Amino acid sequence: MERSGGDQGPHLPAPSLWPVGFAVGIVCILAGLVVSWPAVAAGALITVIFGFLWVRDATTEHRRMDLHEEPAGGPAPARRSVEPIPAHKGEAAMPAPHDEAEIDRFPRNKFLEGATLGLGAAIGGIVTLPVLGFAVLPAFTDQETEEVDVGTLGDYPEGEWRIATFLEDPDAGEVSRRTAYVRNNGPLEGRPSFTVVSNRCVHLGCPVQPGGPSEEDKKKIVRGEGGTQVELTPTQPSNFGCPCHGGAYDIEGNRTAGPPVRALDRYEFSIRNGRLFLGKTYSVSEVQGEGKDARIKRYRLAGPGQHVDGLESWLYPIQPPE
Ligand code: FES
Repeated sequence: MERSGGDQGPHLPAPSLWPVGFAVGIVCILAGLVVSWPAVAAGALITVIFGFLWVRDATTEHRRMDLHEEPAGGPAPARRSVEPIPAHKGEAAMPAPHDEAEIDRFPRNKFLEGATLGLGAAIGGIVTLPVLGFAVLPAFTDQETEEVDVGTLGDYPEGEWRIATFLEDPDAGEVSRRTAYVRNNGPLEGRPSFTVVSNRCVHLGCPVQPGGPSEEDKKKIVRGEGGTQVELTPTQPSNFGCPCHGGAYDIEGNRTAGPPVRALDRYEFSIRNGRLFLGKTYSVSEVQGEGKDARIKRYRLAGPGQHVDGLESWLYPIQPPE
């Protein structure tokens, strides 16, 4: 049956899968911010492609309408100038109210639809972007760990262990207090060699204790460059143990018993002007050998309980960058 007066129904968009693809792309970008930059790039690509297809789909009808407005016989002829018609003669300037079939409501509907969507997007952006920025950006900025001066080489007699306690970030205060077990291994190829083990248990993060006496009465405080203050306590461990769940480690930090899944983390170190500086921590799956002859299987810092090698490392949930 022929419809008179054009489409009178609401202008609903045709069903489309493009918004789903667009949403998948956004999810990939957000997940990629946590996981890796290649995932962000893939998400951006998906978002752009599906966004383009979505926009093209949504504007198809509008573009068709533009084409139909073009007269079939080419451009309209120029109007002749005519004499003005008196107001009481001629046709009505506007279509009669009852002749609704001839009123084209489409442009207004489209305008309202676009204005509503645009306004919603603007308000959503104003509300969401600052929250997203504060939540996500700090994880990617100011991640560099400052090196900490923990004293001169003379504060670490060769072959002995010291418990070094210090503030990693003095501005952050006590929450940044760290403890490392430090042993001077003596020279290696003409350069000093140290073993610097973190006291953070790799099971759930409890403080690991040295398995041997500590000489609290010989504790001393040394001051480093920049005013850092480090407590050094002599200790004679034969191993390390965790009081929380019975995790046990040998003197090189290898796991020997209990729930920990890898060796103790270690600190990077450097020596400048006869002083020892501790840097970032890194994870270790295993240490072969001892002291300066040790061969360390080193990995990017992992979270407590996280495997760093083997099949389990692939099955572990994705970790945010540390
Ligand atoms: S936290 Fe150390 S064994 Fe559980």
